[in-house]
Amino acid sequence: MEQTTENIYKFGIIGCGLMGREFASSVARWCHLAEMDVKPEIVAVCDSNPDILKWYTNNFDSIEQVTSDYKELLSNDNVDAVYIAVPHNLHQEFYCAAIEAGKHLLGEKPFGIDKAANDVITECINKHPGVFVRCSSESPFFPALQKVGKMIEEDVFGAILEVNSGFLHSSDMDFSKPINWKRMLKFNGEYGCMGDLGMHALHMPFKAGLIPKNVRAILSNVVEERPDGKGGMAKCETWDNATLFCETVETKSGNEFPMTIKTQRIAPGNKNTWYLEIIGTKTSVKWSSKQLNTLEILEYTGGEQAWQVIDMGHEMAYKSITGGIFEAGFSDSILQMWAAFLYELNHGKPISKFAGCVTPAEVALSHKLFTASLESQKNSSVVNI
Ligand SMILES: NC(=O)c1ccc[n+]([C@@H]2O[C@H](COP(=O)([O-])OP(=O)(O)OC[C@H]3O[C@@H](n4cnc5c(N)ncnc54)[C@H](O)[C@@H]3O)[C@@H](O)[C@H]2O)c1
Repeated sequence: MEQTTENIYKFGIIGCGLMGREFASSVARWCHLAEMDVKPEIVAVCDSNPDILKWYTNNFDSIEQVTSDYKELLSNDNVDAVYIAVPHNLHQEFYCAAIEAGKHLLGEKPFGIDKAANDVITECINKHPGVFVRCSSESPFFPALQKVGKMIEEDVFGAILEVNSGFLHSSDMDFSKPINWKRMLKFNGEYGCMGDLGMHALHMPFKAGLIPKNVRAILSNVVEERPDGKGGMAKCETWDNATLFCETVETKSGNEFPMTIKTQRIAPGNKNTWYLEIIGTKTSVKWSSKQLNTLEILEYTGGEQAWQVIDMGHEMAYKSITGGIFEAGFSDSILQMWAAFLYELNHGKPISKFAGCVTPAEVALSHKLFTASLESQKNSSVVNI
């Protein structure tokens, strides 16, 4: 239970909106982690909107630098690492500048507005091997998914028959909701909902070495215009919903099977649902964030086929002070992701395979898949990856 704080990494946050606050809140409750020998401290914040920075300075005495210029923050020698959570059109410029300044980086997905931007970021990472870079994606840190990760490592599934993974929400169901940057091509990119939600759906399959060989994608633009918030209407050009049908190879066994990846912003009945199903000849699992702490497992040993329903407790990858029987939630998964980033930065590897953040190679693969999906939609074709 004793927490040592030998290694402190001084952080700057660039982009202090929705996700910037989640990181700051994780820093504030770092004492929740029982056995960490490394700790973040926020010393600098940057956002082009000065109003939102007051929440940070009101809550964090450690902040020494407040700026609207990200270059100013990156030239601060007291900053060791940065979290960057800005609109997608800024990823390439900001991430490369951070890496070139020698700052360790946790960057938000999709890690570049398109494949060309991601290729430039990847090249920059390769030129600076001393800088630790990972992509943000918190969903696999829920206890049920950590258990699935262990099951994958223990090879319990037999031959995998099918994998279904997705992220469905409905924050665009209200057609009268004014447009924001996440629905504009210029800021969000051509990927649309895939860029927003795709990395979350791909995180577990990619860590498991389940690699799409090709894709047939069906993308839908359901809402073509939205109120512009100024009394007029604005074009809403990004893809709202995507279903990707992938012929997939399990790298370990060479077995092939179908995998569907769904990312939807207009999914009636789903506020923010992430799900994963792995169907195998020996073992199958089903999980949905609708019942965050429930894992369904079917083990076939001959005889009846019965689904077991398991209540997960607070079985976190990075030990927490919370009692083992208590439920986990969204902010716990964010705290765990940050524990994973700092643990790997400090120790050179994650505490276990599925308790690691998304790597640059996994991100690059997601860009290949999304780019192939755009081509597949355009030509109604199956596209090799
Ligand atoms: N991991 C997740 O679960 C998750 C959830 C939502 C969003 N995201 C990702 O996080 C990133 C940011 O999304 P968000 O929801 O926090 O958006 P947001 O709009 O709430 O925050 C973005 C912030 O960037 C600031 N900004 C814009 N231009 C800037 C500039 N030139 N210099 C400095 N600051 C600037 C904005 O003022 C805003 O405060 C995106 O990449 C998005 O895909 C991740």
